[in-house]
Amino acid sequence: MMFLTAGESHGQSLTAIISGYPSGVKIDEEYINEQLAKRQAGFGRGARMLIEKDKVKIISGVSKDISTGAPISIIIDNLDWKASHKRIENEGDILNPRPGHADLTGYFKYRALRIRDVIERSSARETVARVAVGAFAGLLLKQFGVSTAGFTEQIGDISIDLQSSPGAEMDSAKQEIFFDSVEKSMLRCPDAKAEEKMINLIKHAQSQGDTLGGVVRVISAGVVAGLGSYIQWDQRLDTRIAAAVMSIPSVKAVGLGAGFTSGKISGTRFHDEIFYEISRGFYRKQNNAGGVEGGMSNGQNIEVTAAIKPIPTTTAGLKTVNIKSKEMEISLKERSDVCAVPAISIIAAAVVNIELANAYQHKFGEDNIAEMIENFNNYKRYLENI
Ligand SMILES: Cc1cc2nc3c(=O)[nH]c(=O)nc-3n(C[C@H](O)[C@H](O)[C@H](O)COP(=O)(O)O)c2cc1C
Repeated sequence: MMFLTAGESHGQSLTAIISGYPSGVKIDEEYINEQLAKRQAGFGRGARMLIEKDKVKIISGVSKDISTGAPISIIIDNLDWKASHKRIENEGDILNPRPGHADLTGYFKYRALRIRDVIERSSARETVARVAVGAFAGLLLKQFGVSTAGFTEQIGDISIDLQSSPGAEMDSAKQEIFFDSVEKSMLRCPDAKAEEKMINLIKHAQSQGDTLGGVVRVISAGVVAGLGSYIQWDQRLDTRIAAAVMSIPSVKAVGLGAGFTSGKISGTRFHDEIFYEISRGFYRKQNNAGGVEGGMSNGQNIEVTAAIKPIPTTTAGLKTVNIKSKEMEISLKERSDVCAVPAISIIAAAVVNIELANAYQHKFGEDNIAEMIENFNNYKRYLENI
């Protein structure tokens, strides 16, 4: 499946068109709206999120709650549009571009009439549309027993106790308890002690007019071995996942499994040794590879981390230059989040789901879900008989 998004931060709505989504998938609108609501949540978000109540409107490609195979078009209205579009139309030119944003380079590149036009499309509000597309992907993946969730691993210099992260040996019951604690947390953080420290850190940053970044982790469980390929570089599953996660505004680094710590571990300890039991088939006792070897899923959980820079709009302001006078100024102060890390864990899960759904379609068929499941079951039988 492929998709495009459109829409501005303070425009009337955000929209996406998904083409190539298989027919026959039950489309649960409530599930899509749940994902949108989770994206809006999290301690540290700004006042905008109190205004918006993101809800999807499905315009085409779904009939009687079932996908038809035709392009799916969706709209999510910006409730803030009514209040803000007149204000934005009448505001004076913004002359003090924000460092860390597209403001200055977008202004050059598009010979923009005003920096506002750059701000509007480069805003991370676009990710609302992608979370909705990711929810369609999630509904497809459910048919194959795949579930994906993201959580907060670090905010500023406060990290969770990594022992609380689900390891390769964690069974599905323990994973359920783990993700239950994530869903109940204001920061999507599984470690209550770390969460308390993170909340205090966010409050402190806010009081200083400052902002924070952090690290999120996404785990996809139940992914079949053999998605993606080593045959060409761009068919590698890790290539696609990394690109998708890197495309989220403010993500500065992406890792799989042990990610950036990989180089610190020696080969005999790093690699996920292969074991076999009749009841389990082939299995591993750890997951440093993050579920991908040779560009293919290996049957382990797919584990992806993303490092997120601090929010660039700070109430303290940053030094910048007036684009007309060339004098030094303090950067534009827009209504803004202090920390968006929990929301980014939802967006990252959505984009990972999009890549996984694509990989399932590539391997098992694109047209119809029943056909995909038949092909999938055939493949599973083949794997079981190895
Ligand atoms: C969910 C989410 C919310 C964000 N909220 C804000 C915000 O309120 N203010 C801000 O300046 N940047 C915010 N950002 C970060 C900017 O969108 C991002 O830093 C900017 O678009 C530049 O992109 P880059 O960091 O990838 O270079 C947010 C990002 C995400 C993903």
